Amino acid sequence: MADQQNHRILPPPHVLASMHPKSTDVPCIIVIFGGAGDLSHRKLLPALYNLMVEGELPSKFAIVGFSMESLDDDAYRKFARTGIEEFSRQKLSEEVWNKFAPLLHFVSGSFDRPGDYAKLDERLKQLDGEVGSAGNHIFYFAIPPAFIDQCSSGLHSAGMVNAPDSKDGFTRVVVEKPIGRDLASAIEINSQLARHFDEGQIFRIDHYLGKETVENLMVLRFANAIFEPIWSARFIDHVQITVAEQEGVGTRAAYYDHAGALRDMVQSHILQVLCMIASEPPRSTGADAVRDSKLDVIRSLRPYDRADVDRLVVRGQYVEGLCGGEKAKSYRDEDHVRPDSNIETFVALKCYIENWRWAGVPFYLRTGKRLPRRASEIAIYFKQVPRILYNARPAPALPPNYLSIRIQPDEGLALNIISKVPGQTLRLNPVDVDFHYKTASPEAYETLLSDVIVGDQTLFMRRDTVEAAWRFVQVILDEWEHSDAAPFPYAAGSWGPTESALLIARDGRAWRTL
Ligand code: BG6
Repeated sequence: MADQQNHRILPPPHVLASMHPKSTDVPCIIVIFGGAGDLSHRKLLPALYNLMVEGELPSKFAIVGFSMESLDDDAYRKFARTGIEEFSRQKLSEEVWNKFAPLLHFVSGSFDRPGDYAKLDERLKQLDGEVGSAGNHIFYFAIPPAFIDQCSSGLHSAGMVNAPDSKDGFTRVVVEKPIGRDLASAIEINSQLARHFDEGQIFRIDHYLGKETVENLMVLRFANAIFEPIWSARFIDHVQITVAEQEGVGTRAAYYDHAGALRDMVQSHILQVLCMIASEPPRSTGADAVRDSKLDVIRSLRPYDRADVDRLVVRGQYVEGLCGGEKAKSYRDEDHVRPDSNIETFVALKCYIENWRWAGVPFYLRTGKRLPRRASEIAIYFKQVPRILYNARPAPALPPNYLSIRIQPDEGLALNIISKVPGQTLRLNPVDVDFHYKTASPEAYETLLSDVIVGDQTLFMRRDTVEAAWRFVQVILDEWEHSDAAPFPYAAGSWGPTESALLIARDGRAWRTL
């Protein structure tokens, strides 16, 4: 009887899932601009392969790589295969591959030649006829931002962009970060896109939003009764968000040495995560309702003035050190990095969200390359219990409770509480109530590609949010640009410069040890 009741109250997971049915069987063709590039090889093609393994690809579907390389379909299939062999979450199986390979096609063309768009258009029409994709086309811009305008105009001039309400099939465009390198260039890119596409057709990727734990933040907050009542300045002392990478700049120095950690990680990923933590409950789970709530958070961030930047933002750059047991060279000695570069590979900052929920609660954010380990985590620190009973003086104060949400690796969450050590003497100890995801989560790109196919924009950045995020970081960029100071050095393999520890220590707090 008790069992039956439980079942009525708590349907098994598949029943919950079907409450929001999301059929992925939407006929379409995805065209990857820069189809023979690194992003396709490492992320997009493996993600599409994994969707096939999971049975999540539409039954009427094709993938077309479009770029300058002179490949034919066979060569493109080989390229995809090596990417899948090396980078796919799930091992390549010949059975799945034999079904996946025929979906892959390649059109060789240059983004600046109108004739090449006509060639692409012809191929798409032919494929529409062959696979039954109903004229539904997704154009994925896996290209540097400088080409976005050219490619959008090229598609438009070739008559390949259907109006949002067209009966001839949908047109969607996927844009990768970085959306610009400052507020002005972000506005320019967004305006270029807006000339040819409706906002409802534009999917701006921030792959952190596709990570399972980040997506789960909303569920954690709004599908449980216990968190929301304590999710405010009344009970929360402060919040820490860390996105730590062990890797250095790797092969991406040409881009990174003109971007740096603030543009690369804070303006996008970290502010997006902050929004998921701090937003008000959206009026529905609809894309715009969720994105409206997030926008409110970014707009409520207390803007820095020049003096704040010095006091509240720390930038660092790694120098030689021991990282992951291996000797790592200085950032300035990395290939393609300017030897006198002042680009930051580490940022720590403190910010405030000025609304009723968060008034007075500091948010400490940090990210960096060549830190001791890869670990991304959100830690919500609750207020101290009163200094009475178990927390009475003169005994040392009990450590505050915290909720640690692990984004990666080892995705899950832990609620750290104080508990009695079993035995006759009264001894108290912090313990973790720990939850680990047991199943392998899909990669962010799998989730996001699937959402583009379905047409769900919830996890994609809207124009206003991107620009609001740039507006917030712009003052920091400006201040750094006009300053003679260099980033603080930190040894590769350490947790960043001492100034980062001081930033939080000044408030009587400490960064979590991860
Ligand atoms: C990218 C940044 O957006 O995110 C990279 O450009 C960074 O510099 C990467 O390494 C981190 O992503 P993940 O998923 O490995 O944490």
